[in-house]
Amino acid sequence: MPIEIKTSEEIDKMRAAGALAAEQLEMIEPFIKPGVSTGELDRICHEFTIDQQQAIPAPLNYHGFPKSICASVNHVVCHGIPSDDKILKHGDIINIDVTPIKDGFHGDTSKTFIVGKPTVMAERLIRICQECLYLSIETVKPGSHLGDIGHAIQVHAEKNRYSVVREYCGHGIGRIFHDEPQVLHYGKPDTGIVLEPGMVFTIEPMINVGKKEVKVLPDEWTVVTKDHKLTAQWEHTILVTDTGYEILTYRSDDTIPRCT
Ligand code: MF3
Ligand code: CO
Ligand code: CO
Repeated sequence: MPIEIKTSEEIDKMRAAGALAAEQLEMIEPFIKPGVSTGELDRICHEFTIDQQQAIPAPLNYHGFPKSICASVNHVVCHGIPSDDKILKHGDIINIDVTPIKDGFHGDTSKTFIVGKPTVMAERLIRICQECLYLSIETVKPGSHLGDIGHAIQVHAEKNRYSVVREYCGHGIGRIFHDEPQVLHYGKPDTGIVLEPGMVFTIEPMINVGKKEVKVLPDEWTVVTKDHKLTAQWEHTILVTDTGYEILTYRSDDTIPRCT
């Protein structure tokens, strides 16, 4: 199947969904403090999505996922299930991944936050992971290749002695949550699909302090590092434009231009 090229009407709706996703991460930040549970963070996001945004939380019941956000703490790579029993403490790191559906279209974004007083190791991992996302976004323009994205991430992570998770990838997005293409977070330059204006996909690198291997817990959702070392993730939804890229899930704390 060819990759969908969005019309300008569809792009407007993706912009609206992306803006709501970004707004959720900005909204939740002040609640991420020692003593709060991930279950509580889920409830706050759920109610905000429904009541304030008149949107739908895509994760809820997605292939049986039981909650409205993913909340992945410390060695949890992704798809952490929010729980009232999981209480955050000083020095934890937590990725919050949100995906509202507005007017039929999905906006998908995540950020890794530090809880309370940061540790040096956590701060470095989170920074390098965000740099991986930014360096990969900077490769996006018509005529560049999907492999350029993965290559930028892999080179920066490995240069800093971190590893890249292979089992999960970015994805095309629109009316469908996880569409083609698969956006790998490793690879070779000038390989894979050639980018065209109107393509929309996520980039969402998962970067580990230790080895790249992961496993899924018996709950069939929670993905953890096999060596139980720290892991971080950042995700944006990206539109390929005539001149380069536009970040549809841009937040006020982003430190890269919204578009080129
Ligand atoms: N938001 C995740 C992603 O970036 C997917 C979560 S699926 C869920 O693709 F079911 F775990 F919510
Ligand atoms: Co995604
Ligand atoms: Co996501």
